[in-house]
Amino acid sequence: MKQLVVIGDPIKHSLTPTIYNAAFKALDLENKFQCKKLRVETNDLANFIGKIRCEKILGANVTIPHKIGIMPLLDELTVESESIKAVNVVHKKDRKVIGHNTDCTGLIGSLKENNVKIKGKKIIILGAGGAARAIAYALVSNDANELVILNRTVSKAEEITNLFKGKSRCRIKADRLEDIDSELEDANILVNCTSVGMKGNQEGKSLVSSDKLSPRLVVMDMVYHPLKTKLLKDAEKIGAKTIDGSRMLLHQGVAAFEFLVGIEAPVDAMETALSDVLK
Ligand code: ATR
Repeated sequence: MKQLVVIGDPIKHSLTPTIYNAAFKALDLENKFQCKKLRVETNDLANFIGKIRCEKILGANVTIPHKIGIMPLLDELTVESESIKAVNVVHKKDRKVIGHNTDCTGLIGSLKENNVKIKGKKIIILGAGGAARAIAYALVSNDANELVILNRTVSKAEEITNLFKGKSRCRIKADRLEDIDSELEDANILVNCTSVGMKGNQEGKSLVSSDKLSPRLVVMDMVYHPLKTKLLKDAEKIGAKTIDGSRMLLHQGVAAFEFLVGIEAPVDAMETALSDVLK
């Protein structure tokens, strides 16, 4: 039996095993592959990579808060993860542990299926962790006109702007979360890449005042537990288009599955498993 794992801290609510195990079942591979959750604390990351090298672990999906911290522990990075400077999937190949990033593909897939165009738009990203890096990369590489990254810790937002500034014609800047109201006035898309709104002590919270949202905004949340975060509920109430975190989870998961297992992912089975569990 080959093991896949999803690592993070917290990890209790991850749905990656649900979608991967549904894929293995649909492909008649459930006796050969299995995916499990594994809580890995930051000071245990190096041990975990050692475990991948020695044990029958094929690879892992990587989530909060390890997407950046795991990078120096890896043997190789794909072009995507090297450009994004964050990793959301690691794969063991010929005794090497290789880091990759499929969050960018996940974002593009989620926007495309909702007919949301990036080109020429002003987009606000809330947060500056690993997910925000991939989203910023996707937007800059797809001709967004203006990108504003707002984060509690402004220096982390500045790190992202420094990574991508000058890589395209997109204007990119970092600022404090407190600037959200004025930035929203002419924004087209808002993406929450923070954990605010997530089940646990952040549930029911939003970084945006509901009266500052407008019906012409597209509001996307990376949080999928709960599916309807306070931010998405507020946006829906005033008639804005919303995209919940399950779409990003599905699209990045499909790309990560194909990278890890090396066969075409059964997307319908993965999508059905996800919607069943989120009902
Ligand atoms: P990921 O790798 O999935 O992006 P992460 O690196 O842990 O996860 O990033 C989480 C993001 O949520 C960060 O931008 C964090 O802000 P800081 O950089 O200031 O830590 C943001 N975040 C978490 N809790 C928050 C809160 N209560 N208010 C504002 N931002 C918060």
